[in-house]
Amino acid sequence: MEICCEMSYILGNYCGGKVVANIIDITEEQAKIELEKIAKEMAKADIAYYQNDEPYLTDAQYDELKQRNIELEAAFPHLVREDSPSRKVGAPLQSGFGKVKHVFPMLSLGDVFSIEEVEDFVAGVKRFLSMDGDIDFMCEPKIDGLSFTARYENGIFVKGATRGDGSVGEDITANLRTIKQLPQKIEGDVPEVLEVRGEVYMSKADFFALNQKNEAEGKKIFANPRNAAAGSLRQLDPNVTKERNLSLFAYTWGEVSNRFWNSQADFFEHLKIWGFPTNPNNKLCHSIQDIEEFFNNLMQIRASLPYDIDGVVYKVNDTVLQERLGFLTRTPRWAIEHKFPAEQAITTINNIRVQVGRTGALTPVADLEPVNVGGVLVSHATLHNEDEIKRKDIRIGDSVIIQRAGDVIPQVVGVIKEKRPENCPEFVFPSVCPECGAHAVREEDEAVRRCTGGLTCPAQAIERLKHFVSRDAFDIEGLGSKIIETFYNEGIIKNPVDIFTLQERNSGEEDDLFSQGNGLQLEKREGWGRKSVENLFAAIRQKQTMPLARFIYALGIRQVGTATARLIAQNFISWKNFSEEMQNKNTEKLLAIDGIGASMAQDIVEFFDEQHNLKTIGDLLKYVTVEDFAEVINYSSPLAGKTVVFTGTLTSMGRAEAKAKALSLGAKVAGSVSKNTDYVVLGADAGSKAQKAAELNVTTLSEEEFLRLLQ
Ligand code: IVH
Repeated sequence: MEICCEMSYILGNYCGGKVVANIIDITEEQAKIELEKIAKEMAKADIAYYQNDEPYLTDAQYDELKQRNIELEAAFPHLVREDSPSRKVGAPLQSGFGKVKHVFPMLSLGDVFSIEEVEDFVAGVKRFLSMDGDIDFMCEPKIDGLSFTARYENGIFVKGATRGDGSVGEDITANLRTIKQLPQKIEGDVPEVLEVRGEVYMSKADFFALNQKNEAEGKKIFANPRNAAAGSLRQLDPNVTKERNLSLFAYTWGEVSNRFWNSQADFFEHLKIWGFPTNPNNKLCHSIQDIEEFFNNLMQIRASLPYDIDGVVYKVNDTVLQERLGFLTRTPRWAIEHKFPAEQAITTINNIRVQVGRTGALTPVADLEPVNVGGVLVSHATLHNEDEIKRKDIRIGDSVIIQRAGDVIPQVVGVIKEKRPENCPEFVFPSVCPECGAHAVREEDEAVRRCTGGLTCPAQAIERLKHFVSRDAFDIEGLGSKIIETFYNEGIIKNPVDIFTLQERNSGEEDDLFSQGNGLQLEKREGWGRKSVENLFAAIRQKQTMPLARFIYALGIRQVGTATARLIAQNFISWKNFSEEMQNKNTEKLLAIDGIGASMAQDIVEFFDEQHNLKTIGDLLKYVTVEDFAEVINYSSPLAGKTVVFTGTLTSMGRAEAKAKALSLGAKVAGSVSKNTDYVVLGADAGSKAQKAAELNVTTLSEEEFLRLLQ
């Protein structure tokens, strides 16, 4: 909404689809009276809505009051009341947090562990941009805390959220308000909409003090400052958050109506003016030597910093270059995290267990005598596979060195042989599945031994179900790992289809949720009740429409992760098309996709060759509607829906940038020329692909012609 000048307010006249309003001067005294009236009115409405279930205002009326409050507060920031509606998120949440959809996803960062990899990253950036010479990088300590986003409208803090799954976070507005370092309002040159993002953390001193206090009171002890920060921020009662001393650093932005800074360094200057804490160690580096020096220096002072850091983040400083570089599926191309070397500790192996995954892979896991590694209590470590155990000669009872690198599952670095107890037998890897007893076989050239139990192996079935409901797949709230295990073991959910018939089976009646006696009656289970059962059914119903990419990922086809599922969706558009082509074993179509190789294509086609998979999917589709792939594609773009192949060297940009550009305009990028290719873009020294294009009569474009299409 546009505000035409300060000291003006909106009466709600529509003009060209936008509220631009009559501008009426209002005195400070009038504003004060009105703000008080709104605060009282909205508090009353909140009680009626949240506590008495008897709303007397329509949503539109409520929003109008809210909006009016924002406008008045923007014009008279010093009149913002203690009890202002903009300081509250409705009433205290009854169960769980509200959800906040991130307009711009909150991404994570790719990571590297050595300066050589950083050099590769920098070289990759230059190649992508087709630039020689040094590029400036902003180097920042990577804070080990919890990322947050804080939304400001007309300078007033209105909404705060966690990262959540990157697309949807938890509404923690009330909790963030209790952190003194977060400005409640910002003044000066501020975009109308501004999302400031950063990290909430607990200082080492506050962490120790909290644990000491908790210990004395017999309360929960936190394993590390990060956990303590998370446990304090994600509190349903913001008063608890308030008691904990949380701090924050701001370091990036989300949605912004008018981004007037042109570099990361410039943004930090604005953050400081607006009153956000920024890390005093952030430094602009001009060369790889600078970067290396920064990293080494930070590692030196790491222990003396008052908060935990786990590495360094390097960001391309220039925002125009950032935009050109863009994003991969979950990470930006313009930033990377350089992790500090892993931290190690010595402990003993109490047991070695063999777990069975959803594809039947047998993975050995070591149960350890719990040990503190760099502030984290570690009690398990992965042993990868049987060769790894043999190679390192790891045995139950051994003293081992374990290490933890960032969030990675701890690993066993090696055995301290001198400490091995006498008569300690070698570990024998099972040749049968520990869960179902079927033979476990190892294919030639494979490091992994797999259970051959297939559909009859309960462990595989449970893992497949867990995958099906996981975050990047159906993401069904209320169906966590524990519940899946219990429901599977009790025969309540044996396969994905059972999830969608749960409601009907609960009551024994098609249209009822609950019944007197003949259904599953989940509401009668310990720890459940009508409310949680209703919530679960609602969560399931919500997922009866599923985007194609998620649906494909949920099927758990070997090697098909989220990125591949997306590529498939983008190229096949509809489920019908994809499944028909796969049942016809059209590997060609898969191989034509840049990013899908022969082994992956084989796994996909094999999946569709199994009758039981087709049967399950057929049943599933009675309950689930799969949405066609629809990206925010610029349909007016001449590249929308076209298949493009690049060949030869492009001079104005790297191949990767050209590819990313084409994808963002709705094109599909293929690796080889076929009759389905629409355009072949010819760089310098184009070879056999140019010839193939000529043979097949496919349109070719010079680099200039391609650039013109991009305009
Ligand atoms: S920038 C698109 N800068 O690291 C880039 N992240 O794995 C967004 N983090 O979720 C992140 N310190 O929680 C950035 N100086 C820093 C950071 C930082 C800590 C965390 C953040 C993010 C995660 C990425």
